Amino acid sequence: MAIRARALRAHGTRVISLALGEPDFATPPEAVEAAHDAALAGHTKYPPVDGTPALKAAVRAKFARENRLPFEDAEVMVGNGGKQMLFNALMATLEPGDEVVIPAPYWASYPLITQLLGGVPVHPQCPEALEFGLTPEALEAAIAPRTKWVILNFPNNPTGATCSAEQLRAYAAVLERHPQVWVLCDEIYEHLIYDGPPHASLAAVAPALRDRILTIGGVSKTYAMTGWRIGYGGGPAPLIRAMTTIQGNATSGASTISQAAAVAALEGGPELVQVMRVTYRRRRNLVVSALRAMRGVTCAMPHGAFYAYPGIAGCIGRTSAGGTLIATDEDFALALIEEQHVAVVQGAAFGMSPYLRLSVASDDDTLLEACARMSVFCDGLR
Ligand SMILES: Cc1ncc(COP(=O)(O)O)c(C=O)c1O
Repeated sequence: MAIRARALRAHGTRVISLALGEPDFATPPEAVEAAHDAALAGHTKYPPVDGTPALKAAVRAKFARENRLPFEDAEVMVGNGGKQMLFNALMATLEPGDEVVIPAPYWASYPLITQLLGGVPVHPQCPEALEFGLTPEALEAAIAPRTKWVILNFPNNPTGATCSAEQLRAYAAVLERHPQVWVLCDEIYEHLIYDGPPHASLAAVAPALRDRILTIGGVSKTYAMTGWRIGYGGGPAPLIRAMTTIQGNATSGASTISQAAAVAALEGGPELVQVMRVTYRRRRNLVVSALRAMRGVTCAMPHGAFYAYPGIAGCIGRTSAGGTLIATDEDFALALIEEQHVAVVQGAAFGMSPYLRLSVASDDDTLLEACARMSVFCDGLR
């Protein structure tokens, strides 16, 4: 989709892309200034592999303050983005044939990294009728003797589904019956919640499971710092040690300058995020109302993150104004970019079809224009 959008733009077409999972805000000035100061102060040498003492302290304080998760120094580490935390954890633990339970729809990196390492992804389904929530029964049915990890991602990319402490307790009751299973909680969107219950961390809600939970997060989404590449994780010391060994032989520690910026962001805390949250909520409401008014489109309310995941079952089997038969969500996305110059991502990329993922991380006018074009496209289906 990105390649096609670039090609169309090169020919002067105004393409609107709602395809990328990236905040459109600027990084908070506090973080930029901290990076500048760190560089001028000579903090430009190799960093410790597991993170600078200042950032590890800030991560521990953040986990204790915001997640009710006190960690020792040996229980946290910092790396090049939340993605590297995931990669380190799976690389340090997966044996070929191990199963990883990844509820669908999912962020595509979970199954791809699992497969790269010889693991086998298993996908319990989270249906639209449940606002893409996971039932404890579906979780239980997905766990088998070879299950090594369960990956939980709330708020969710791509659906925006969130999870209450009560739901987490129900998952914990299932997980307690399977002591060989580790749980990776990806909480990178934790501050982007718009309604419903506040964010809760499984490790705080179910302390009995703490010695097999890895909680990961990062500054990319919350603080609009995708390019700085800082993520962190908190979990049992032996796992963190193994993850640090992997990272030390892959990339070494994350950039010292970025780590200084991340300290300022984390210490600035949720206040830095308030304006972004209010803005994303307004945009979500705008996009969801527009989607629900389109012919053949349904849309569950995303309660967090910055995506909508509309269903397009009502468009399948029809033909676009430009003459393309829409047999799949990929056909829809390709015809939409060709005919109306709007880029979105097909649900097949996230393991549940026929859906689309739209990012609401663009300004109101851009979102309204994209929805207007998509509406014309849907009206043109015969
Ligand atoms: C669910 C989820 N987890 C983790 C990440 C990784 O973010 P980063 O590596 O930029 O910290 C992303 C980014 O798209 C994501 O959507």
